[in-house]
Amino acid sequence: MDTQHPDLHPLYAEHLATLVARADAALEHAGFEHLVIAAGQPHYQFLDDRDYPFAVNPHFKHWLPVTRAPGSWVVYTPGRKPKLVYLQPRDYWHVVPEAPAGYWTPHFDIAIIHEPAEARAHLPRDPARTAIIGEPNAALDGFAPNNPQGVLERLHWWRSYKTPYELAMMRVASRIGARAHRAAEAAFRAGAAEFDIHLAYLAAARQGDNDLPYGNIIALNEHAAVLHYMQLDRVPPAHAHSFLIDAGASFHGYASDITRTHAGAGPGADDFAALIASVDEAQQGFCARVRAGQSYPELHIHAHHVLAGILKEHGVIRMSAEGAVESGVSSVFFPHGLGHPIGLQVHDVAGFQAGPDGGTIARPPGHPYLRMTRALEPGMVVTIEPGLYFIDMLLATLKDKPAGKDVDWDRVEALKKYGGIRIEDDVVCTEGEPENLTRGAFAALHHA
Ligand code: GLY
Ligand code: MN
Ligand code: MN
Repeated sequence: MDTQHPDLHPLYAEHLATLVARADAALEHAGFEHLVIAAGQPHYQFLDDRDYPFAVNPHFKHWLPVTRAPGSWVVYTPGRKPKLVYLQPRDYWHVVPEAPAGYWTPHFDIAIIHEPAEARAHLPRDPARTAIIGEPNAALDGFAPNNPQGVLERLHWWRSYKTPYELAMMRVASRIGARAHRAAEAAFRAGAAEFDIHLAYLAAARQGDNDLPYGNIIALNEHAAVLHYMQLDRVPPAHAHSFLIDAGASFHGYASDITRTHAGAGPGADDFAALIASVDEAQQGFCARVRAGQSYPELHIHAHHVLAGILKEHGVIRMSAEGAVESGVSSVFFPHGLGHPIGLQVHDVAGFQAGPDGGTIARPPGHPYLRMTRALEPGMVVTIEPGLYFIDMLLATLKDKPAGKDVDWDRVEALKKYGGIRIEDDVVCTEGEPENLTRGAFAALHHA
């Protein structure tokens, strides 16, 4: 556990009170008497007795900071203390989940069970009156997840508004990530291969691959042009021109999602560093717009204009920024969304949701990968992750179009060896100034 976390007891009590109030409202709206959340069961590989890494139901870890408890359940009935049905199997093959401990335990009635099926006796008798949230394989005899839409939609909607406890968890997740980013950068400067940079990251985070909120993207040179590059070369390149690292960390079930791009040394490095600096400055400008009432899709379109301006300023394109956005040229260089909600899941729920009753806010035409179409409100946390890339497949489609004649292809060729740039922070929308969790975490490292 990170030693820098604040005193969590009062924050957690307030968080749980918020979840209880939300559950009361969701159950009343949908006409259920109980809310039951299955942590989940492991999934097995085809024709094998090996299970995939366990990923707990995010609704379960919303109620308590327990992520490794397959076969456990949260049971809530309005007006009663929440109950945790906690599976500690009799098992000498695996590590049995630890006995419940910590600041959250006084808030639950805890029933320890030793077999998954024993849970049934602790669950409400009538599944028809119970909103049961979970995956199908969590089903017990006569008690199967029904995931009622009217409950899920409300819970998802409210998950967008983080409690102060959740923000505290995300600050810690950001600090772990920032610390590991520094170690990864040092490994890059020392000439390490992608695989070894990855190991340096894990070691500094004290997290294994399966603890991370998503698989690390550790890309040297033109690998940075592959948006989700996960290959991890075991051998360093002859010359490292650039380093893009998109890597986060988890804390008590909450995610951070951080990307930085670094220029290597040698001829041309200053030129690429200047391009990184321009994207970094633009990115900070977008972060400053994470304010209540800001439409996220409008911020995404704004980012296209600013990034197109950077492409022009750095001699990649000759057309106006407006022309580049209108003709789709900006999307060749910035072909993903500006960001997404983040929280219990790195790509958190409800990014498109129109209201507590569901519904979808469509993406703006021509922007198929945007993951957030809502207006920002206090309590939301989103990533801001603009990028510029030199992707052969997309550049090839541009070359044959009329707009292609306004591209400096020699300049593009010269930049291809760097792959691309992405800079990503996690930003909280507040009543006033945004809180940048990522920059705050990096700044705290300097002061530690
Ligand atoms: N690391 C995944 C993302 O940035 O969305
Ligand atoms: Mn992201
Ligand atoms: Mn990322």
